[in-house]
Amino acid sequence: MKLSNIRLEVMQTIEKSIDELLIKYLKPIEDNWQPSDLLPDSKEPGFFEEIEEIQELAKEMSYDLFAVLIGDTITEEALPTYETWLMGTEGIAQENKNGWSQWVRGWTAEENRHGDLLNRYLYLSGRVNMREMEITTQHLINDGFDTQTGNDPYRSFIYTSFQELATNISHRRVATLAQKTGNSRLAKICGIIAADEARHANAYKNFVNRILEIDPGEILLAFEDMMKKKIVMPAHFLRESGGEIGSLFSHFSDAAQRTMVYTTQDYIDILKSLLNDWNIENIVGINDSAEKARDYLMALPKRLQRISGRIRIPQKQFEFKWIAVQEGRKKVA
Ligand SMILES: [Fe+2]
Ligand SMILES: [Fe+2]
Repeated sequence: MKLSNIRLEVMQTIEKSIDELLIKYLKPIEDNWQPSDLLPDSKEPGFFEEIEEIQELAKEMSYDLFAVLIGDTITEEALPTYETWLMGTEGIAQENKNGWSQWVRGWTAEENRHGDLLNRYLYLSGRVNMREMEITTQHLINDGFDTQTGNDPYRSFIYTSFQELATNISHRRVATLAQKTGNSRLAKICGIIAADEARHANAYKNFVNRILEIDPGEILLAFEDMMKKKIVMPAHFLRESGGEIGSLFSHFSDAAQRTMVYTTQDYIDILKSLLNDWNIENIVGINDSAEKARDYLMALPKRLQRISGRIRIPQKQFEFKWIAVQEGRKKVA
């Protein structure tokens, strides 16, 4: 039987219990938080005072941290790219309205609140050149992304497990840093988003666990392949107005490293936690190449740790067009 047919069968097997997964990992819409729960109500008389407070507190945040928050928001706003990609995955048939496509819709509907909430906060903060931010967002959606998963569900669920854990970490760190400057509102905003990301990570990790039970050898090979190619961030094609595709990503990533919002160490720690959660070390009864993949994966954290010691992060702050003109030295055309 062809590999892709086996994958399809595995997806169909897991799909039989998808209803239970939907209930476990997605929250009922009526009870779920909405962006407006965390933002000032423009119908209320105290609205402008609350905006003033938001703007005062936003000034307290470091330039780099604010740039990272904007980059995180843009990453969330590129959600159409992620939904399209997942819907195209083998076994997730949008047109059939199967259980898997319902998962993708439910996940997208929850994720959509993240970009909405952060975007609205940034608009009110008085510190953002919204037009520049919007241009970058439009570029990012227009440029798409390359997860290197193809339409393989095994590779895709490994990617999403990794990615949801990464976003959980970064939103959680922004929350902690915002709280340090007394910005409780932003801390709450990022904290509540981080909690969603953690729940989504658990869902994708569970999907991988189920595949591991049915087809361990093949998903090990997929995991090995993903790690050899490295997990690319969804915003790796980031650019600002007038820039080349991908030219802004390293500046965004450097700012995330400088502020310790997301670091090389986090990448290694996520890998370690996945190896542990999926009990990769103890998988047996697989063929030679899958055994090699298992051993490669188990040795990888140490190898990455050695390399990470040699990485130097540029300390010079980059001037992002996203941050309002008065803060930058050069005028934005
Ligand atoms: Fe998100
Ligand atoms: Fe997410």
